[in-house]
Amino acid sequence: MNDTKADILIVDDTRANLRLLSEMLIEQEYMVRPVPDGSLALSAAQMEPPDLILLDIMMPRMSGYEVCKQLKADERTRDIPVIFISAKNEVLDKLKAFSLGGVDYITKPFQTEEVLARVETHLSLRKLQKHLEEKNRELSETLEELKATQNQLILQEKMAALGQLVAGIAHEINTPLGAIRASISNISNALNASVRQLPQLFQELSPKRQTDFLALLQVAFENKANLSSREARTRRRILKKELEAEGVSESDSVANTLVNMGVSEDVSPFMRLLKEENNTFVLQAAYNLCVQQNNSKNIIMAVERASKIVFALKNYARHDKSGKKINAKVTEGIDVVLTLYHTQLKHGIEVVRNYGKTPAVRCYPDELNQVWTNLIHNAIQAMDGKGKLGIAVFELGSNVVVQLTDSGSGISQADKDRIFEPFFTTKIAGEGSGLGLDIVRKIIDRHQGRIEVESQPGKTTFSVFLPIHQ
Ligand SMILES: Nc1ncnc2c1ncn2[C@@H]1O[C@H](COP(=O)(O)OP(=O)(O)OP(=O)(O)O)[C@@H](O)[C@H]1O
Ligand SMILES: [Mg+2]
Repeated sequence: MNDTKADILIVDDTRANLRLLSEMLIEQEYMVRPVPDGSLALSAAQMEPPDLILLDIMMPRMSGYEVCKQLKADERTRDIPVIFISAKNEVLDKLKAFSLGGVDYITKPFQTEEVLARVETHLSLRKLQKHLEEKNRELSETLEELKATQNQLILQEKMAALGQLVAGIAHEINTPLGAIRASISNISNALNASVRQLPQLFQELSPKRQTDFLALLQVAFENKANLSSREARTRRRILKKELEAEGVSESDSVANTLVNMGVSEDVSPFMRLLKEENNTFVLQAAYNLCVQQNNSKNIIMAVERASKIVFALKNYARHDKSGKKINAKVTEGIDVVLTLYHTQLKHGIEVVRNYGKTPAVRCYPDELNQVWTNLIHNAIQAMDGKGKLGIAVFELGSNVVVQLTDSGSGISQADKDRIFEPFFTTKIAGEGSGLGLDIVRKIIDRHQGRIEVESQPGKTTFSVFLPIHQ
């Protein structure tokens, strides 16, 4: 709206007044629409709302008060500033004019300067007001957009976290699968060899030596020692000397196979067996059976590992359909998350769990899992994959407290005040979007809990307080 072009509606039943006011305003380059009575004024204002109305009070048929009342009742004309012009100079009249929504009151006979000054003031006030309204609208639009963007980002963040998790889990499940595949192929080869060897073996061995043979297998099967290659070398050397001293032939190969079978401590019960002429053949047959036994054990371990991961996954996504809180142990959730983060943790991060006896907490377990996920993820990033992660869980007053302490870089005093803000991050793009702790805090709020942080380089502790009953 341009001042010089402002559109002013003048309403007065006295022709002379109408003319006087019009000329005065036209002189100032305002656009002027003069009308001689109330109902004309209303239709003019509704058809094309002016920027300001100068309104006489005492008019036949419809008074200025009535006109003003109707203007204020109509959405289209409500915000047009109305200045009353009247010969009535009573306080009560003025009060009435203001109470009906007039912005000003000029008494007749009027001074040109006064009228112009008041018109100008109210036009610029109106202009400011419009400007503010405009800004307000822009701001609330921007706010809506921001909210939408934030939701989008939270979703993306969740998807990214999920992607990361899935990649980790795929790796976690692939490792035991690889072990199973390799073990099965070892078993199959050894089994074929055994099938060929066993008939000959039992033909060649006397019943006594057959008993020795089974005893040797027994020792080998029960062996749990996992020797380093250096230890194995030492044992082989010692064993070889022992065998040589007893006059065992092929002592080198025999010592080697025995150590591989995990039999190297006390071989005296098998000495007669080892002294047999066909000793290497006999040992090879025993060894093949051991290979089958060992690889079966590996398969059992791998299957256990894989089902642990599957169990963790099922728990991670445990969702209470009713949307109501349920009683759950926070330590179970933490263990689930630790299992899923196993890959990232196992190379260089020592996890020290210190779980006290704590009661179940009324909570949304899957949401709390997100809290542990974010805090543990942050800790791993802060330690750059190497260090110590302490997890203490204990009861304190009416709360269960979970304390995660990492030996990472720490948080500066200045950053500490900002880490819970959405989008605050010190990480490079792609590594962090700054939403983790915002989500954490929102979830903890939903549990009427609180989170505290203490940090110095090499020691950062996040403490989560969860009320047991809410
Ligand atoms: N254990 C911690 N040690 C050091 N700094 C931390 C730790 N946890 C959080 N911070 C700091 O707080 C900031 C905000 O953390 P937040 O989890 O909200 O976002 P982010 O980790 O940067 O990104 P996102 O979690 O979205 O991937 C981090 O950028 C980091 O500077
Ligand atoms: Mg984070």
